[in-house]
Amino acid sequence: MVHRQAPATTYRATFDRARQEPEAFWLEQAQTLDWHTKPTTALDYDGQSQWKWFPDGQLNITYQALDRWVAEGRNDQPALIWDSVMTQQKITYTYAQLLDQVARLAGALRNQGIERGDRVLIYMPMIPEALIAMLAVARLGAIHVVTFGGFAPKEIATRLDDAKPKAVIAANGGLEPSRTVRYLPNVAEAIAMATHQPEVVIVKQRGEIDDRIAEFDASWLDFDEQRSTSEPVDAVPVAATDPLYFLHTSGTTSKPKAVIRDHGGYAVAAAWSVPNIYDVAPGEVMFVASDVGWVVGHTYIVYAPLVAGATTVMYEGKPVGTPDAGAFWRVAAEHGAKMIFSAPTAYRAIRAADPTGEQWKRYDMSKLTNIFSAGERLDEDTYHWLGKITGKPVVDHWWQTETGWPIAANLRGLAPMPLKAGSPSVPVPGYDVGVVNPLGEPVEPGTEGNIVIKLPLPPGAMVGLYGEPERFHLSYLAAFPGYYETGDTGYIDDDGYVFVLGRSDDVINVAGHRLSTGTLESVIAEHPAVAETAVIGVNDGLKGQKPVAYVVLTADANISPEQLAKELVAKVRKDFGAVAAFRDVDVVSALPKTRSGKILRRTMRSIVEGEDVAAPATIDDAGVLDTFAVQATRWES
Ligand code: COA
Ligand code: AMP
Repeated sequence: MVHRQAPATTYRATFDRARQEPEAFWLEQAQTLDWHTKPTTALDYDGQSQWKWFPDGQLNITYQALDRWVAEGRNDQPALIWDSVMTQQKITYTYAQLLDQVARLAGALRNQGIERGDRVLIYMPMIPEALIAMLAVARLGAIHVVTFGGFAPKEIATRLDDAKPKAVIAANGGLEPSRTVRYLPNVAEAIAMATHQPEVVIVKQRGEIDDRIAEFDASWLDFDEQRSTSEPVDAVPVAATDPLYFLHTSGTTSKPKAVIRDHGGYAVAAAWSVPNIYDVAPGEVMFVASDVGWVVGHTYIVYAPLVAGATTVMYEGKPVGTPDAGAFWRVAAEHGAKMIFSAPTAYRAIRAADPTGEQWKRYDMSKLTNIFSAGERLDEDTYHWLGKITGKPVVDHWWQTETGWPIAANLRGLAPMPLKAGSPSVPVPGYDVGVVNPLGEPVEPGTEGNIVIKLPLPPGAMVGLYGEPERFHLSYLAAFPGYYETGDTGYIDDDGYVFVLGRSDDVINVAGHRLSTGTLESVIAEHPAVAETAVIGVNDGLKGQKPVAYVVLTADANISPEQLAKELVAKVRKDFGAVAAFRDVDVVSALPKTRSGKILRRTMRSIVEGEDVAAPATIDDAGVLDTFAVQATRWES
């Protein structure tokens, strides 16, 4: 193939075309889809904070994902392979079978009054019904709001009140290696806590889990019964700009942000990215080891593989311990995956359990061409180790819930380029990435700064925050006019490779899960013995970062530090969720602050990670910093 001989040129030409003629470029890509009404215009942009891709097009993404392939004769091709080590089950759904399941559930939802524009909250583990529920909601032109299974009732309640869904679709539980997570008590508690009340609750009763609907609310409906007794319905054509889903993500405050994704732009980005970034063609297999609760799961477990006519593998299990560190390799080999994609924390867990890669050698990995990583920076050690034991290209790529698909990647299908350890490679066509200083001025190659993307964002990326246009503007667009602020810092080298170094805000990344320190702080601050707290993310060898709470006690507190830590750990688990992996509490006499009262989190982090730090000029009381440095536990990696 010609492009493999001159990849840099091919990459550059494609990138430049997408930058110079974005409308022609994306309109051309849109031709690969089967539209209800073909768009004649690519973009409607107000030059500021609103952009709409394919404003006069009409389609339904589930038609692209299912009906189109059945119409083209892919009926018997596997669409979804569910591989559950937790239940020892493997189920394959062909395109025809998946279409039938989705269309029937959509029929059931319509019978329950769900229509275009209604919201439906989905709280399910990694089971096929989660994907079927998402597609069924979308098929009606309704909007799904998936809530990760590791979240506690309060987080579900927040999403109920924010999105005001007409229905909730849940499972009765999820299976973690050490325990069964009972979902129904969480759903019941969340509904009791929320102001907004859903009209309908539909429950997938997993045979492996005992909880029955009647124990919680006899009016809740049974998923299987609803699906099997309803007639299939057609996909509802909607405007390309109609919202497909809201996905909440952590911001700097305790209230999560509901990122809005549309039907048309997302379908086009999905269709383009699967062959060009992941090098996967129709009929080939993608194994993305994430969770449907996260953006990676939304795009590359659910929508993109199907929109691209590929087969998606949905895996219920962990990278290690279920039963061993060869779990991912077994799944990839058994189902003939062309690619695998997970987070660095998962690869580190495999390395810790199997440092010499013995498990890899047990399987025929000949079909696998690339190993992808995202969710946090792939550290160089893990990058080199993974390359060495597998002999395959290890491809870090960088993206966010907000963008929905990669901002920077090595485009393995379009034009594979040399890989550099520590870098997710180059900006993906459509993303005009730059680095600016705090004044918004571009910096020289190699100089660290704020990573920004020139507006408008490409198809598939966020188009706003649900119900919060002002927050959308302030969070992403206000700091550097004309640019989207990613919240990440880093630099671009002389070859145009992006290096992402960290966040410029208070968002932390624990085992590939993005958490807001503000949310954790608000939970901890509710404890009666806590006068004040700051949570910071410190380096962790396995999880990338872990949250540590620095707590100042109230004057009348009468509790030992050990007891307080125990109570706070239990409280975070109950009010936020186990996924925070919160275990560490440090009692200090005061928190270092600026004169305007802002807690100096970054300075605190540098101190506890053992770096030499000078007191910032804005500090209120340098003595507090000195005392903090003496009292705080060190977390040097
Ligand atoms: N439902 C309920 N609880 C969950 C859960 C879920 N879906 N996922 C995780 N948890 C729980 C875990 O059981 C654990 O509980 P514990 O404290 O009782 O042990 C806790 O939350 C912390 O989980 P985690 O930090 O994820 O550790 P883990 O040992 O369960 O798993 C990894 C480790 C590496 C497998 C996991 O973190 C992972 O897959 N991370 C990748 C995340 C990802 O896909 N990010 C998206 C970008 S690719
Ligand atoms: P999320 O929205 O949960 O996908 O988290 C997005 C954030 O994770 C980004 O803003 C980055 O801080 C971080 N991130 C994701 N992928 C990478 C990567 N490949 N390299 C560095 N940071 C990453």
